[in-house]
Amino acid sequence: MKLWSGRFAKDTDALVNELNASISFDQRLYKEDIQGSLAHAKMLGDCGIISREDAAAIKEGLEGILRDVEAGKVEFTADNEDIHMNIEALLTARIGDAGKRLHTARSRNDQVALDFRMYVRRGIPVVVGQLLELEQVLCRQAKQYQSAVMPGYTHLQRAQPISFAQHLLAYGQMFARDVTRLEDCAKRLNQCPLGSGALAGTTYPIDRFETAEALGFDGPMSNSLDGVSDRDYALELLGGLSILMMHLSRFAEEVILWCSWEFKFIELDDGYATGSSIMPQKKNPDVAELVRGKTGRVYGDLMGLLTVMKGLPLAYNKDMQEDKEPVFDALDTVEMCLPVFARMLDTMTVRTDNMRAAAGKGFINATDCADYLTKKGMPFRDAYTVTGRLVADCTARGKTLEELTLEELRAFSDLFGEDVYEALKLENCMALRSSFGGPAAGETRRQIQELERFVQAREHQK
Ligand code: ARG
Repeated sequence: MKLWSGRFAKDTDALVNELNASISFDQRLYKEDIQGSLAHAKMLGDCGIISREDAAAIKEGLEGILRDVEAGKVEFTADNEDIHMNIEALLTARIGDAGKRLHTARSRNDQVALDFRMYVRRGIPVVVGQLLELEQVLCRQAKQYQSAVMPGYTHLQRAQPISFAQHLLAYGQMFARDVTRLEDCAKRLNQCPLGSGALAGTTYPIDRFETAEALGFDGPMSNSLDGVSDRDYALELLGGLSILMMHLSRFAEEVILWCSWEFKFIELDDGYATGSSIMPQKKNPDVAELVRGKTGRVYGDLMGLLTVMKGLPLAYNKDMQEDKEPVFDALDTVEMCLPVFARMLDTMTVRTDNMRAAAGKGFINATDCADYLTKKGMPFRDAYTVTGRLVADCTARGKTLEELTLEELRAFSDLFGEDVYEALKLENCMALRSSFGGPAAGETRRQIQELERFVQAREHQK
């Protein structure tokens, strides 16, 4: 019999039960639900709303249920719809009338708002910890490849010389922002909805500050209607996870390119690649491809929940039961992708020889050639035109800028002198890019230190 059956003359249709029940997925909230009930029951006792004996019995009962759930001894049932009613029913079955007093001055809307918020709050440090592990891998690899010259690209066309470290550290910065985005979400969500009631608070003399504090919140949410209505914290989480997956996916795309025969900038460890069922030569970057592919489902989770929420009048509507699966799915997906991606990067072999060879072609020192002429007194626009003509000439003759003789260079401008060859050396081109944030060695070191400090400041979360 349903907890709410009093008003009904008939049983719920079986198909409705199937549609309505959420226990198959919201059982993941069991711990939060019990924690919330423990705080609520203690507060009811402290405020004299129930007797201290009942509060103590509820506490003992709930702690027993928690132990049994964790020991795998509890079978939840769809007859009790969701995790909230399952636990309440279990409690009442175990301790009798005291169990029936737990729901005084509380609603399920209250409970789900609280449990879900706490679940999101608990998920964030897990993802942050994994991001920090990834950052450490990036720092380590960046240190090793500080002077490995590679072509930097725009439009996937070779553009200017950078180091492999510079490329990795760019992602390091993106992931650091992903960390702070999640931290912001955790900060903002840390207000307690419990005590909002169904929507309009309660006539009982509850103490919302007590429960908020007991549950580790900064304070109670200010408006009861808001407390049970909004899921913006879940959307912020999904937004943060979507952006994080977007970063991971771009990186994955580059890993896929880099281990193609066309690039061969890296080789994946055998443990992080897969073979083909028909082509014996194949070594496929499935890890990176799956990360790229799974980005789509995390975006889907975000779009799904945004769409669920967009037309809902205040306060709670059953549509909102659809909030949990996208969040569970996105957290599961990200938590699966991050560690394996980090391991894949940690174990890859970097082919600095191929990077250097690629950097040697494609005129990525053309800007430096123009800058050379500019520093000798030619206006930059003119230097740009002269260098453009040189590039066209070299392309036609299958040469690089530094392969031209001084005489050949001087045919284009008499400002060219012996020192041009030093200026065109890729290592020098990179070393001279010492502006703040550039790929020069000093700046690379600064970036690595900055990232290491960022990780150290959060050491406790790893
Ligand atoms: N299972 C519900 C959910 O996940 C809990 C809240 C139900 N409240 C209600 N009044 N039907 O959203």
